[in-house]
Amino acid sequence: MSNYLVHPVSTVGGTIRVPGDKSISHRSLMLGGIAEGITEVRGFLESEDCLATMKAMRALGVRIDRIAEREVRVHGVGLRGLRAAGHALDMGNSGTAMRLMTGLLCGQSFDSELIGDSSLMKRPMERVAVPLRMMGARIETHEGKPPVRVKGGATLRGIRYELPVASAQVKSAILLAGLYADGETVVVEPGTTRDHTERMLRTFGCELTAAQREVRLSPPARLEGCSLEVPGDFSSAAFFLVAGSIGQGNGLTVCGVGINPTRTGLLDILALMGADLRVVNHRSAGTEPVADIEVRPAKLKGIHVPPELVPLAIDEFPVLFIAAACAEGETVVTGAEELRVKESDRIAVMAEGLTALGVECEVLPDGIRIQGRSQQHVFAGGQVHSHGDHRIAMSFAVASARAAAPIQIADVANVATSFPDFPGVARAAGLNVELV
Ligand code: S3P
Repeated sequence: MSNYLVHPVSTVGGTIRVPGDKSISHRSLMLGGIAEGITEVRGFLESEDCLATMKAMRALGVRIDRIAEREVRVHGVGLRGLRAAGHALDMGNSGTAMRLMTGLLCGQSFDSELIGDSSLMKRPMERVAVPLRMMGARIETHEGKPPVRVKGGATLRGIRYELPVASAQVKSAILLAGLYADGETVVVEPGTTRDHTERMLRTFGCELTAAQREVRLSPPARLEGCSLEVPGDFSSAAFFLVAGSIGQGNGLTVCGVGINPTRTGLLDILALMGADLRVVNHRSAGTEPVADIEVRPAKLKGIHVPPELVPLAIDEFPVLFIAAACAEGETVVTGAEELRVKESDRIAVMAEGLTALGVECEVLPDGIRIQGRSQQHVFAGGQVHSHGDHRIAMSFAVASARAAAPIQIADVANVATSFPDFPGVARAAGLNVELV
């Protein structure tokens, strides 16, 4: 088992870049694969999860060439051009990949089976199977979990579906199935979630409207191959936005970060806590907005996180809990029960690690209450367990900016699913992360 040993540091700073966006990289392969002609993707995230999606798309008959570092060329086979893989498709650690692929595969003429690693095999899949069955798909799960078996040859019809949970993955799975349905597909969200699928579908020439949390898609005759640029992943930048806020130093800049407003809830939450953040050099990567983000150390204060910001910061809570531990007073998160069904139960696992490092916290059914302290050494040294969750592992590495002694973080191999060179980038920002 690989572990991190992170040493306390006195300053955090510098100028760094983070790797490409995971959500956008997955989607670029799936949509590129069913488009007509070539799709070139620059800034592609070469992480284990995205490479699993690449392998799956290749197994379905799509030629994908790596033409340079972080650059791939997808030879799209058209909406009806995929063929049976002949074996189960292994989606690794990624719930996004499995759920989106379920939507894509239920409109095909052949049968498919989706499996994943031990974490993914425990995650709920009925949330996509239920609406897809309403569209006519034939899907089986094992007690609600993978393996997911998708029967080919189903006739799909468009539906209007009100999502019971705010989930971009469920929304996207339905939209992908909608590409193969008769009639219009309408998805209504209870709260705003990331809209990368909608933006990218438009880039591929698909007509789609989105207004007041309602997305409408009419099945296109074809998707057109295109050029895509993947911005730096805001969720990877998040670790450094918190490190720069709680550490000491002259400031840290993260360059080329995707700032799609459906992803940047953490900026609003940190601002409410008193963080000193500046978003500068606004530009775009195709339809996705990009900027550099500057962060300076600040005295943070505890807050009650507004529940409407939860879906906009859904992957950033582990590292936000680290910020909360360094914020004077109490921070309360509620309405975040979804955290319990991510790569780990992120409420329970973070609470366990925070407690091990001497931070007082109370687990709530749908969130957490954290007693923060503004002293220099907030975290005692010691051992924490990531439970194989990449974002938990990286979050506790950030704690080293305010730790009294080294922290050993167990089971960090899955960091490679989203952020292959995390230790190197962390070192460039002044953190001292050793793989042991
Ligand atoms: C993702 C959506 C989110 C997020 C996940 C990536 C996506 O999941 O947690 O890491 O790419 O659509 P939910 O939509 O299920 O909340």
